Parts: sequence; C-alpha cells; structure tokens
Amino acid sequence: MRILVLYATVEGHTRKIVGHLTSTLEKAGHDVRLIDSTGDDTVPAADEFDAVIAAAPVHVGSFPAPLRRFVKANAETLMARPGAFISVSLSAASADKGEVQEIADCVEEFSKETGWWPISIHHAAGALKYTEYDFFRRWMLKRIAGKEGGPTDTSRDHEFTDWNALDAFVKEFVEQAPNLAGKI
Ligand SMILES: Cc1cc2nc3c(=O)[nH]c(=O)nc-3n(C[C@H](O)[C@H](O)[C@H](O)COP(=O)(O)O)c2cc1C
Repeated sequence: MRILVLYATVEGHTRKIVGHLTSTLEKAGHDVRLIDSTGDDTVPAADEFDAVIAAAPVHVGSFPAPLRRFVKANAETLMARPGAFISVSLSAASADKGEVQEIADCVEEFSKETGWWPISIHHAAGALKYTEYDFFRRWMLKRIAGKEGGPTDTSRDHEFTDWNALDAFVKEFVEQAPNLAGKI
C-alpha cells in the first residue's frame, strides 16, 4: 500500500515516532512518502496514495500551527483516503481521566479547525527532554510533571511511548484501510 505520512515536531520526539513507524511499514512492504509539514513539500494527488497517517505533538494545549495550516490547506485531498492521527502528549500517559479527555478534546478541535476527520486516533505518550529544554521550559515541565506524579529528575530525559501499542495501532489501521477506501 502507498502510505502518506505527515508530521510536525517541536522537540523531536514525534520525528522519532514517525521514523519508527516508517521503518516498520517499509519492512512490511509498504511504500511510505514522508512529509514534514513545516517544510515546503506538498501533498500528492489523492490517486497517488492509498492511506494517510498524520502525527503531531500537543504543546500548550494545541498541535503545532504549521501542521494545522498544512492539513487545513490539503483537507479535501486528505479526506479522499482513509486517515489515522497519532496525537503525542504527556497527558496520554496520565492516570487522570480529565487530562486524557482534554487531549481527546484537542484532537476534536483540530479536526473542526482543519476539516480533516481521521477514522482512527491513537494517543501516544511522548517524552520529557529535560536535558534539551532551556531554563524556563525545564522549570515549567518539571512543575507539571511533579503535579501529575511524573518524573522530576531533570538530569536526564524520560520517554513514555508504548512502542508495542503504537505498532498495534498502525498495523490495525493499515489492515482496515483497503476496506475503507471509497467509503468515506
Ligand atoms: C513547552 C511544552 C509544552 C507542552 N504542553 C503540553 C500540553 O499542553 N499537554 C500535554 O499533554 N503535553 C504537553 N507537552 C509535552 C509534549 O507533548 C511532549 O513532550 C512530546 O513528546 C513533544 O513532542 P515533540 O518532541 O515531537 O515536540 C509540552 C511540552 C513542552 C516542551
């Protein structure tokens, strides 16, 4: 299958997720076209791909503006094929149902704003990259993590992504997609 993978990243963790899923898909024999929505690449015509997977991180309650603009500008083409969205956040790892709901609301807001409604959504837990943040970010993220019972050791980074759950999500979407083509 020809799969379009779109993404945005701020701190690099979503790029790692996309790199992982791209190599998994390619090993399974799929043809992946990768687009960083912050670059100047364009979406191919709908007859040049069979399914789309987009991935983006939540930063201060919303997805990066360049990705939102890119998806909105290409929503009609993207909607012509089955789509999956991978939302990357710290709240995805939270035990607090309110936090998890807030992230689900962010995804709904994203679809309302862009006009792109994926058929499958996965909430992937992201990473705390304390060693790469500037002083203010490190202080802010440490405070948020502390409030939620997360790690506050800023001498190292912390990764929360469940790679097996991510693989299972992508596998299921790719298996379903051919049956959904033309039904959206
Ligand atoms: C400045 C900043 C703001 C963030 N805001 C949120 C947030 O509102 N909700 C959340 O769940 N995670 C938040 N996060 C956590 C990120 O979603 C997480 O670190 C993710 O792995 C970042 O992905 P990226 O490396 O692709 O940018 C924030 C992280 C940073 C550095």
